Amino acid sequence: MELPRGKSYIRLDQISQEDIDNLILRVNSCTWRQTFHIQPVSGLLNDPNGFCFYNGEFHLYYQWHPLGPFHGLKYWYHTKSTDLVNWENVGIAIKPDEYFDSHGAYSGSAVEHDGKLYLLYTGNTRDENLVRHPYLCIALMDDEGNIIKSKKSVLDKVPDGYTEHFRDPKLWKVEDRYYAVIGAQRTDETGAVCLLSSSDLLEWKFEGELATNLDNFGFMWECPDYFEMEDKGILIFSPQGLETEGDLYQNIYQAGYVLGEKIDLERRKLTHGEFVELDRGFDFYAPHTMKDPNGRRLMVAWMGLPEIEYPTDINGWANCLTILRELSLRDGKIIQKPIPELESLRKEKAEAQGELSDEKKVMEGFSGVTYELVCEFERGDALEYGIEFRASDTEKTVIKFDAVQEKVIMDRASSGKVIGSKHGTERKCRIDGDVYKFHLFVDSSSVEIFVNDGEEVFTARIFPDIRSQEIRFFATGGRAAFKAVKWDY
Ligand code: FRU
Repeated sequence: MELPRGKSYIRLDQISQEDIDNLILRVNSCTWRQTFHIQPVSGLLNDPNGFCFYNGEFHLYYQWHPLGPFHGLKYWYHTKSTDLVNWENVGIAIKPDEYFDSHGAYSGSAVEHDGKLYLLYTGNTRDENLVRHPYLCIALMDDEGNIIKSKKSVLDKVPDGYTEHFRDPKLWKVEDRYYAVIGAQRTDETGAVCLLSSSDLLEWKFEGELATNLDNFGFMWECPDYFEMEDKGILIFSPQGLETEGDLYQNIYQAGYVLGEKIDLERRKLTHGEFVELDRGFDFYAPHTMKDPNGRRLMVAWMGLPEIEYPTDINGWANCLTILRELSLRDGKIIQKPIPELESLRKEKAEAQGELSDEKKVMEGFSGVTYELVCEFERGDALEYGIEFRASDTEKTVIKFDAVQEKVIMDRASSGKVIGSKHGTERKCRIDGDVYKFHLFVDSSSVEIFVNDGEEVFTARIFPDIRSQEIRFFATGGRAAFKAVKWDY
């Protein structure tokens, strides 16, 4: 079975079991299958949806096109976990089979109400001329995991002033009222966020647009998310159509946040500072958060981007989610840390330390394909220092601190199979002071690098040869000291 990319609204039940089994065989033979990231059993995964804690378990859904590695008819796929590390594949949560979601059950979020889990999602439909008509739809999950879609949509007309790009509701509750931010495009083709409210999650009122100071900031804002931390209001969103500016906005589309005062719901206004990218790497989009029972704000994102082809496409699958990150604030900025629960994945441990004097060092026990690596550096007079990993004679992925430019630089020019090279092979970000720590999570085909305890993060898919396993510590133009710990995963 090979579905042509254009003919993508085919439903899963129109395909024979034999074709599906063959597709899954092809997927499972791929050496770039991940080991500790959420990934699709076949086809394409994109946005995380409906992340929540309900009935004693964490639930995390995602956008899924089962039949191939491209954006076709989307389902909500359901995974759940009790420890935020081991995720069980539950199966399809929402099928696109009604007039209001006939061309895809698109992104949305979840909230508990009266003992049930309410999933508010976008119904994507297209008319005979392929023009989109979005709906807002509700599905209810009970405490046995049964999910039933409401027979009618809760919003069936895009409000005046906006185009058909009106989607991705994210819910939260204030006292006894529910609110949702929703991504929108104004009729003048600029991006915005609108606000809806409801007392019972079934009848929704369109409140209007949320005023920000970003009036002309890209052509569409996807996947907004609003939450509060330490008396601050934070709006995360994924704007499309920003021009590259120096080191900023290098990916095809961006994902970031604005932070400021708490939202003024009455005036529908957010007073905030500048837009900040959440990740400095290559593959990060549509971040989605939830507050866990301990009050932590947890974030997960799609480790991929729209309109980028990945080398796993020939094996019939694409994309995964990031590891979970806990958010906090430091000096008016979001800090991201890997959740400590991930430590349960740690197996064999290796430790090393040394002095680097304009050289590269390979240390005993430091190599591999899937691992966690923490490396602390102390700069002497080196001009740059860092780590090469998933390396061989011909391949390497590099993370380094360039003390002259005062920038962290990630380079995937030689990481293996090339991805999205039209958007460049290097990502850079300025750091105040030296880099004292790189913390890496390396899976078969990805890396997430936390710099200085979460001050910045670089996330990237990489597709090296399975034999590229070396780790090398280096300093150039002078001396630096390092101390490293690695755990196999
Ligand atoms: C973002 C997005 C959303 C939409 C979904 C469809 O990646 O385009 O705006 O709801 O993906 O899968």
